[in-house]
Amino acid sequence: MISVVSLWPFSPGKPGSEVKVPAEYKVKLTGQSFGAYLLQEKIWQGATSTVYRAQGPQNHSRPKTVAVKVLHPYRSSREHRRQFLREFHLLKRLRHPNIILVYTAGQQDNFLFFSMEFVDGRSLRQYLMEREFSGPQCFYFLMEVGKALSYIHSCGIVHRDIKPENILVAGDLSQVKVIDFGYADYLNRHWWQGAPSLIGGTEPYLAPEVPRGEGSERSDIFSLGVMMGELLLPRIDRGQEVLKEIVQRATHPIPLRRFASVGQLMEACQAALPHLTAALS
Ligand SMILES: Nc1ncnc2c1ncn2[C@@H]1O[C@H](COP(=O)(O)OP(=O)(O)O)[C@@H](O)[C@H]1O
Ligand SMILES: [Mg+2]
Repeated sequence: MISVVSLWPFSPGKPGSEVKVPAEYKVKLTGQSFGAYLLQEKIWQGATSTVYRAQGPQNHSRPKTVAVKVLHPYRSSREHRRQFLREFHLLKRLRHPNIILVYTAGQQDNFLFFSMEFVDGRSLRQYLMEREFSGPQCFYFLMEVGKALSYIHSCGIVHRDIKPENILVAGDLSQVKVIDFGYADYLNRHWWQGAPSLIGGTEPYLAPEVPRGEGSERSDIFSLGVMMGELLLPRIDRGQEVLKEIVQRATHPIPLRRFASVGQLMEACQAALPHLTAALS
């Protein structure tokens, strides 16, 4: 059976906007210790969780500053808790320069949380609203996301919520990392991997088959295709037509008519738009 996440009592708001949480639900956690972490600054307030910059114990493999994602206690139904921990466990299996690295998960009072590497930057959505980017720069972001997705799929996982809000970009643009595996799932789930993930996702990035419970690698290709059109079409003056064809194929309503892999999509782009790659090197 498919469970659909209800955002009640919050509305998702405009792209990139934070969710408005009713005052009675607001709890101040900055200044508090969560396990070994001291929460220092609220970075983000979402519908189901809040993200903080925090200080933790430093060791040879872990920096002192980390990010801590905390599940809202009013989202603490069994299903939401399971989903939150699944995000942590899925991320724990992944190790790739373009995917956020998670450290530990725990519970403090009523709050489930997990820690992860802190990226000193903004989401791609925030940057798109604040800064000017060239076609080649946007192409670079898309290529980095493509590398992350190819790896995720090779690990038998599908993300299902690829959109600029879920891509973190460091301030100096040196790092591009996929985050938010809240709706991710195993491609071929075995019974011991638990019940299916909740279905969520965001229009217009959400592939039509995902709400039907038929998500696959090609659903992420759809989302990447939508991002490709959004980021590149307004920023290139050569190759518009060929890019439109690529985007159309990547976002075809029938999954089997899309590119078979993220690699194929990225290769098609590189072949059709060599000037974007050349401008980067
Ligand atoms: N590791 C991190 N480092 C820095 N900022 C982060 C980190 N993780 C999340 N954020 C910030 O929090 C926002 C929401 O994170 P996300 O995991 O997408 O939460 P949600 O599940 O509520 O959508 C991001 O867009 C980003 O601004
Ligand atoms: Mg998100």
